[in-house]
Order: sequence, then structure tokens, then C-alpha cells
Amino acid sequence: MCGIVAYIGPQNAYEIVIKGLQRLEYRGYDSSGVAIHNSKKVNVFKQKGKVQDLIDFAANKDTKGKLAIGHTRWATHGLPNDINAHPHQSGDKKISLVHNGIIENYAILKEELEQRGHQFESETDTEVLVHLIEEIHKNSKYDLFDAVRIALNEVIGAYAIVIINSDNPNELIAARKSSPLVVGIGEEEYFCASDATPIIEYTKNVVYLEDGEIAQISLTNGLKLKTIANQEKTPYIQELEMHLEALEKGGYDHFMLKEIYEQPQSIKDSMRGRISISKSKVALGGILDYEEKLINAKRLIFVACGTSWHAGLVGEYLLEEIARIPVEVEYASEFRYRNPIIGEDDFVIAISQSGETADTLAALKLAKERGATLMGICNVVGSSISRETDCGSYTHAGPEIGVASTKAFTAQVTILTLMAMMIGRRKGTITNKRFNRLLVEMKAIPDKLKTVLKENDLIEKIAKIYYQSTNALYLGRGINFPLALEGALKLKEISYIHAEGYPAAEMKHGPIALIDEEMPVFVIATKDSSYEKIVSNIQEVKARKGKIIAIVTQGDKEVKKIADHYIEIPKCDELLVPLLATVPLQLLSYHIALLRECNVDQPRNLAKSVTVE
Ligand code: M6R
Repeated sequence: MCGIVAYIGPQNAYEIVIKGLQRLEYRGYDSSGVAIHNSKKVNVFKQKGKVQDLIDFAANKDTKGKLAIGHTRWATHGLPNDINAHPHQSGDKKISLVHNGIIENYAILKEELEQRGHQFESETDTEVLVHLIEEIHKNSKYDLFDAVRIALNEVIGAYAIVIINSDNPNELIAARKSSPLVVGIGEEEYFCASDATPIIEYTKNVVYLEDGEIAQISLTNGLKLKTIANQEKTPYIQELEMHLEALEKGGYDHFMLKEIYEQPQSIKDSMRGRISISKSKVALGGILDYEEKLINAKRLIFVACGTSWHAGLVGEYLLEEIARIPVEVEYASEFRYRNPIIGEDDFVIAISQSGETADTLAALKLAKERGATLMGICNVVGSSISRETDCGSYTHAGPEIGVASTKAFTAQVTILTLMAMMIGRRKGTITNKRFNRLLVEMKAIPDKLKTVLKENDLIEKIAKIYYQSTNALYLGRGINFPLALEGALKLKEISYIHAEGYPAAEMKHGPIALIDEEMPVFVIATKDSSYEKIVSNIQEVKARKGKIIAIVTQGDKEVKKIADHYIEIPKCDELLVPLLATVPLQLLSYHIALLRECNVDQPRNLAKSVTVE
């Protein structure tokens, strides 16, 4: 939530920061702002709305300067408006600060500061932090760096912050706790950002700040790191493996569409180097050291949110079926606030595209305190979750920018399938014949997905019939039930149509009352062990005049006869259906949202990376 960019060096800082904010806009887009240092003073421009609104607003203003910080906001404290937009400044306007996170004890701090004469302009927690820093700096012997460090010891909550000082044109101060921050190191220039996407164009050398670290980034003294407890640290410089093209739309109208179409390749990338048909083997390098422990784990607990939680539900089915390990799938946000029973024999596995979701991260920390082994299935390399875990597998789906998760989901399901196969093979819970057949089928998935994508025109036609619906129902059974949840979530979040996902057989226990001629019912009705049952469920909907849009297996006869519309997917092992059947549901949501003139990549109220609890 919220994106931060900062620059210091010889180039025009405003341009770099603005471009960076546009890359980070997926993190929040209700308002944005910049503070630019220009000969002893700092110019601040802030605007409600998108980064483009800020660009328009600043068009004829003086944006010169070699040092700047910028922010794109997803509101937590205070309405999205010009005043609450970041950067925020100290009372004397000398210190400017951008912040991603929440200062939980801001109310108490604010009261104390008000008693000392501080006046606040905004409703934000962030403004309190910058005033606290000012208070410590002015009334002590501490320089600004130490004042920031001391202030951070007084705050409770999460933060990634970057600060500039009008008295010092050569320095940025940055710190993080529970919100991500990356420092880019170029030739006599430095960058800070919430993720590496604004930096990649200028340098591949980065330092990911750890929790509780504070950086002094100076053109004269270089990069110095300390903990907020005042311990010196040596910066660990890593090389980025990201490519710039992956951050562009590449000819597509929307990132979401591009990312849907990338799935044949992203699934291939998730499998690359991990499966071998000739050696009849699956290997997940990142968990090798923990393989034995994983195989002997009493149970696996998946913690995740949103779409990643749906991937966990598919994983539960796969792991219990193939590897015979009990699995629990937990909403991270619920798990962490219970008193869950976790032991040393448990494996807690966080599934997260961003690797930054605050609730998932907190659930992991709780599991760690209780002695569980931690694994991560993340997409973003170097993310907080990937660094917090004992072992893990990156999904390698490439940057996902559309707020609606698409290729990350199929990549997560790919990893979970491989994991189930690997454990099943070691435990002997899957026969050699089935294992080898699954290997071959896995390899064939990317090509089969290309066939599914050819149905796009048909899917668009179906979308044109139903885009004005006010409700929708999604049904599936077994391993396809999580797809019903995922299909409903995709529709809700980008088209704002109320939608519910249900296990098809549960429908008669309540939701069937909703069915009438106005209700589109999307059913995953592929040829599998529960095919006959789902046909009956479809009949039940038809009997009540509901409209059926079915995802069927090529060659299907029965469902085709009764459905109002059908979309075919190629035949595959029933355990692999989620990798194919989810794609028509993504495309349906995409087209429906487009027809409703919704902002597909940046739906209202949402942000890509939910780094607040
Ligand atoms: O980055 P994560 O996978 O941890 O994010 C979890 C959810 O916030 C995310 O999947 C969200 O539900 C998406 N908007 C769904 O499309």
C-alpha cells in the first residue's frame, strides 16, 4: 500500500521520481505528491487523484532539483485529498517525509506534540511522525539522522520512510519496519523505492533494507546502515534480475490482459529447471535443505490472503490427494489473531504474490515464535516474506502489475502441484505411473493454455450478454471449487458486480433462492470424477431459469446441451484443470469490467500490495 520513490544525484530528480511513481501506482492511487530540494528550499506539490493529475498540476511549476522524494497514496488515516497526500513536512517546513505504513500510536504522540505547540495541517499519522522528528532534532544535540533513529524507537506500527532536509542537499534518510524499501546504487547517484521497478532502468545494484534498519544516503559519504538501536550494519548489495520490458504493457491495452496472455510462458517459467521427464523427477531447489523435514511434517498450514488464499485451497486438494499430508488453509488475517495450535512439526507456508502482504507476514512471524518451519511461495524476489522464511520457491511469473492477480495465481498453483508431486514421490503416495503421467501433462499445460486463450472472442461475446448483471454466482466442485471463489473475486474486484463462489452442492442449502432468469451462473463443469454431480447441479439452476455459462472439456456433450453458453478447455488430468479453467474466468471478468467502463488495472479502493493490517 502506498508507493515511495526518492532520488539523489546529478539528474533531474522530479522526472525520475514521477516516472517511478507511475511504476508504483499499482500500490495506491488516490493521491500523490513530491518534495523537491532546490537551493536551500524544498518545493512540495501534492494532488488528489492519479499521478497524471500531479503531473498536470506541476506542469508550469518549478520542479528543478537534484534531490526529491515522492509518494503515491492508498489512504489509511484521513480522506484522499490534497492536504492528506504526502510528502508531509515539519512545522518549520525544513524536513519533508514520505511514508508507507501505519503509525499506530500516532494519537498519543500527536497529543503530546500539540501540548508542546505543534500544529497539524492534515489528518494523517505521517505528519505526526515528521513533527516528532522535528521535536527531537530541535531540542537535542542529535543530528537529523539520529533524531530520526530515536523517533522511530518511539513509534509503534509499520513504516517505510524517506526524508529530506532543506538544510542538506546531499542526503536522503530512509528506514523500514514491516513495509518494504529498496535502495538503488548508481554512479554517484542513489534511489529509494518501495520495490525495484522504479530503479531497474538506472541500476541493477540494490540493497533491500531489513526490518529496523535506517540508511544514511549521502552523495559525499555513500550509503551507511544502522539499526534503529544504533548498531552499525554492512549493506549487502544484490544484483537485480528484472527486465524493463516486463514492466511495460507491451502493446496490450491493460496490464491485466497482458498478464492473462503471459500465462503459457509464466507457467513454463515456474516449471523451468524443476521437472525432468527423462529423469522422472521434480526438484524444488529452494526447499532442498528442508525437504526431509517437509516430507515428515505432521501437517502443512497455508497462510495467505485473497487470490493467494484460493491457490492455497487448490494446494490443499493437491497435497492431500497426491502427498497424503493433512493441510489447513488459513486466512492470514484470521490466523494471526487467534491462538492457533502450531508445533515444531508443522510447516507453515505463506503464499503471496508480492511477498509483502502485512497479514501474511505477521502470520509467519507468529508461526516462527511457536517453532514452526517457515516456507514461502512468493513471486517478488527479495520480498519480505521470502526473506523471513527458512526456505521457499519463487514462482518466477515475472512482475504482476494489474491489481487483479492472474498469472501469479496459476504460477502458485504450478508450484503447489510440483510440491505435491515431489512429496508424493518421496513418500510413495503416488504411483510411478501416475507421477510420470502427471509430469507429461504438466509439460503440456502451456500449449493447452494457448488453445484456451484462443477462446477470447467467444468470451468477449458472452461478456457482452451479461455485463449489465448486478449479481453472479460461480459454482465448482472438488479441486474446482476454489476456482469458483477466484472467478467471483475477479469479477467483484474489477467490475464491481456482486458475485459469490460456492461449492456446487452447497447451492441447495441457501443460495439457490437467489436464482432467477436474471442470474448468470458460471460453472466449472469439466469431465472429472464429479462430472455427473455437477450436471445435476446445472439442471437445478436451469429448472429455476438461471443462465448457465459453463467451462467444459473439449468433446463434452451433456453440459453443452443444457448450458446457455459454454467455453471449451482441452482435456487434461483432473488435478491440473485449475491451471486451464481459471483463464476463461479471468478473461470474462476482464471483458465485463471493460464493458462497464471500469478501470481494469486500478480498480477503486484497492491496491496491489496490502502492506497495512
Ligand atoms: O501479494 P499477495 O498475493 O499476498 O496478495 C494477496 C491479496 O491481496 C491479492 O491476492 C488480492 O486479493 C488480489 N487483488 C486478487 O486479485
